[in-house]
Amino acid sequence: MDYQKILNEIVIEVNALENSGEVANYIPELAKVNADKFGIHLTTMNNEHYATGDSEEKFSIQSISKVFSLAMAFSLLGEKLWKRVGVEPSGNPFNSIVQLEYENGIPRNPFVNAGALVVVDVLLSELKDPERDLFTFVQSLTGSSNITYNKVVAQSEKETGYLNAAFVNMMKAKGNIVNDTDEILDFYYKQCSIEMNCRELAAAFLHFGENGLSYEHAGFSLTKSQVKRLNALMLSCGFYDESGQFAFKVGLAGKSGVGGGIAAVYPEEFAVAVWSPKLNKKGNSVRGFHSLELLTTKTESSIF
Ligand code: DON
Repeated sequence: MDYQKILNEIVIEVNALENSGEVANYIPELAKVNADKFGIHLTTMNNEHYATGDSEEKFSIQSISKVFSLAMAFSLLGEKLWKRVGVEPSGNPFNSIVQLEYENGIPRNPFVNAGALVVVDVLLSELKDPERDLFTFVQSLTGSSNITYNKVVAQSEKETGYLNAAFVNMMKAKGNIVNDTDEILDFYYKQCSIEMNCRELAAAFLHFGENGLSYEHAGFSLTKSQVKRLNALMLSCGFYDESGQFAFKVGLAGKSGVGGGIAAVYPEEFAVAVWSPKLNKKGNSVRGFHSLELLTTKTESSIF
């Protein structure tokens, strides 16, 4: 498969369309990003690399980080984790609060913000130094020691994160949060403001495509069955109320973030990360989504 030729074609086709959508302006610091950035990096299981555009430029991975913290919490708690957070698509935006009240403080899945906050609560309860462990884990997955978070973005999220504070408080009132609410929010904002480039993200996600291998990084291990479950959650919930469309049009397990990144995996073949900051109404990168649709169409790769 000539992946480089396909990526080059994708850039031409994507550039021919209007760069529509809006950058994530509800986090003021994210709104400052150059909206015309576009990068893509594909890494195969044989460790071949194909890339184009701004693929080496770091960006805010935002909700893509929820996959990493979930992997850690699942490794620590196993099936007990699903007593605290569900595994069903929400059919709602990532920052919707209505469902959380009538479902008694148990978030639908670990990728809506409320679910990711429960996952953080688990990490704070189970680990002596959760921040160090998160960065060690992510560095181990990416094979890069140069992974940090952007303090200015984290602070910007903290200053404007009224809904996230509401989720934690609602869940605390319903008995599904153990730790101090400010500690949970601080950790969550650090996690979301981690910066990576497309190459590093693809390297991290390649591990979720290692079907048949059990997986161990920085002391956190997942069985083959657990990696399968992570991929199932990405497929069914990774794009919030657009997860059905992503499965329908792209057909890969993946996760988006409001920084404009999408990382996805085609088990046993490749992992791919794409970055373009403008988002659609569902909070997913317009060009990122479109590029991956073109990729799986041109390569005829789909898990189905
Ligand atoms: O808490 C928030 O709203 C952001 N830090 C993360 C949201 C996000 O990336 C949703 N993904 N598309």
